[in-house]
Amino acid sequence: MCSVKSGNKLALELAPMIDGKVILTTGVTLLGGGFVLAVARSKPSMLTLAGRNTAKVEETTKAITDQFPLVKVRTLELNLLSLSSVRKAADTVNGRADIPHIDVLVNNAGVMAVDWAVSPEGYESQLVINRLGHFLFPNTMIPKILKCPQLRIVVVSNNGHRLSPFRFDYWNFRVRLVFFIALLDLLTYYIRVQSWIHTQLKLAKHTYKMAGVIISVWVMVSRRQLTC
Ligand SMILES: NC(=O)c1ccc[n+]([C@@H]2O[C@H](COP(=O)([O-])OP(=O)(O)OC[C@H]3O[C@@H](n4cnc5c(N)ncnc54)[C@H](OP(=O)(O)O)[C@@H]3O)[C@@H](O)[C@H]2O)c1
Repeated sequence: MCSVKSGNKLALELAPMIDGKVILTTGVTLLGGGFVLAVARSKPSMLTLAGRNTAKVEETTKAITDQFPLVKVRTLELNLLSLSSVRKAADTVNGRADIPHIDVLVNNAGVMAVDWAVSPEGYESQLVINRLGHFLFPNTMIPKILKCPQLRIVVVSNNGHRLSPFRFDYWNFRVRLVFFIALLDLLTYYIRVQSWIHTQLKLAKHTYKMAGVIISVWVMVSRRQLTC
């Protein structure tokens, strides 16, 4: 709710940039739904709503047309899990005369931490939905997007990329391989901790010995001073 509220405020502030624009957004439920509703109030020329679930896309379409009847809305079936569906959706856009061009493409759809699964073409689901599909989509719409010299592509992401770089060696995140690598990580960590403990123990033993020597010397010196 908070994001929708601040989104509305931002969309009004940026109204001169939104006014008259043709905007295509993927994943138009939840945050994406809030986004298109916020943008609709700043008079875009057309909103194209792309999603995998037709009923949910229709729900968002109705919310927009109820509140902003002057905004033209188009819908597009797009399942980013399947690259052939992505190609089909892009071809649909290329062939639709009622979507003249695209000023802004918002790659918003995404999934996070879902169960490991592969797409029909054999790609790990998060990789294909979040990245590969969104890369292929505009690339297959080149004829349409090049009609706008100032096209803007917005890629919505999150802070997850800060946790680890992309692992080119096992990009499909195969479960067994990941498990094996995690085990190796754990093992090297264990070895590092063990050698650290060993060093600390050695250091402690050495310090203990040194302390003994210092105390003995100190006792000897004190005794001599007493007898003198
Ligand atoms: N929520 C957060 O706290 C947060 C934080 C940082 C970044 N983000 C980013 O914000 C964006 C939207 O997040 P959200 O919270 O609204 O996520 P969400 O609730 O999971 O919604 C994601 C959208 O992606 C769509 N989607 C999922 N799989 C798809 C597929 N195979 N093909 C086409 N569309 C698909 C979903 O459609 P359905 O409704 O049909 O499932 C939904 O519209 C994401 O890119 C996310 O990384 C979110």
